[in-house]
Amino acid sequence: MKTFDVDLGERSYPIFIGDQLLSQPALLAPYITGPQVVVVSNETVAPLYLDKVVAALTGFNLEKVILPDGEQYKTLEYLNVIFNQLLESRCARDVTLIALGGGVVGDMTGFAAAAYQRGVNFIQIPTTLLAQVDSSVGGKTGVNHPLGKNMIGAFHQPQAVLADTAVLSTLDDRQLSAGIAEIIKYGLICDAPFFDWLEANIGRLLAREGDALVYAIERSCRNKAAIVAQDEKESGVRALLNLGHTFGHAIEAGMGYGTWLHGEAVAVGICLAADLSRRHGWLDDASVARIVALTQSANLPTQAPAALTFAKFNELMAVDKKVKAGKLRLILLKGIGEAVVSGDFDVDLMAASIAAYRESA
Ligand code: NAD
Ligand code: GLY
Repeated sequence: MKTFDVDLGERSYPIFIGDQLLSQPALLAPYITGPQVVVVSNETVAPLYLDKVVAALTGFNLEKVILPDGEQYKTLEYLNVIFNQLLESRCARDVTLIALGGGVVGDMTGFAAAAYQRGVNFIQIPTTLLAQVDSSVGGKTGVNHPLGKNMIGAFHQPQAVLADTAVLSTLDDRQLSAGIAEIIKYGLICDAPFFDWLEANIGRLLAREGDALVYAIERSCRNKAAIVAQDEKESGVRALLNLGHTFGHAIEAGMGYGTWLHGEAVAVGICLAADLSRRHGWLDDASVARIVALTQSANLPTQAPAALTFAKFNELMAVDKKVKAGKLRLILLKGIGEAVVSGDFDVDLMAASIAAYRESA
């Protein structure tokens, strides 16, 4: 098992990564301080893994909340399902919530924990590759709004993150690839040797080789933890973690939440950001070709949907959280392993990138 901390002073917490961690009940108990525990999961993950988590929690007063499965349920309405259960069960401020699921369950449970009685403890048990490498770490929680992705939320750090690679065996191939999009992101923003490793080992990840998965999850989480430790609430360097996300969020919202997977939309967003960086003379042709090739070899899309015109992209990107003083800022690349936040891009070049990386109608 690999263990290391997200270093945030009194809000520091451990990340545990390894095979069969759900079968080690002793891992969870130290992070639960009160008698009540509420496990939040969804109708897909609960039948697979809830029993294991329940078995690890003997001695606690346990409740469960099972949400419907899907990005389209990551809303205030379904957040209220969690609050209803917490109140009906008379949960006190020493309750611990446990998120058992992918990024949707993790973001919603974390936001419920941030808001319930102005903040209670929670633990992340991420069950998708995407959640294990990204969403369970760093304390961003929230829900979507019809007008913008993740627009309602809070920063609220978990007590611990427990990433059991055994659960990835039941994930479908499309979801596995979606997680790889966020892994590629770390190589691009700050870790060129990791990008090289991914080029050489992408087949092993797709084949779900255990040591390759643990290595990629650990390296991703270490990169994320280092950035979050510098800038917990995204006033600076943390914005780099949004490489590809401004375009990606526009695709998710524009196509209807749940139609495109988050990781798929981010993959296209990364290709768009790379191409736009090239058009500004910041990135060479060979680097863009490597990025597109790695994305394709991870079985991820590289073309935005034809239905999303440049005008629609612009409209949707105008509500991005990186907009400052009315000006959109994007994460662009000055090399593989070197990302920058820039409001200084040419809109005509952005239109050209979208035209080049959009399916023909
Ligand atoms: P998801 O939570 O919808 O999970 C994907 C699918 O896999 C779902 O159908 C789920 O039920 C199923 N599933 C989960 N674990 C499984 C398992 N072990 N076996 C079989 N099926 C399983 O999607 P996701 O990709 O995990 O997360 C995407 C969400 O995460 C988005 O809402 C995105 O905005 C958010 N996100 C948040 C952050 C953050 O920092 N908070 C970062 C990245 C993404
Ligand atoms: N996924 C972006 C972040 O956590 O900041």
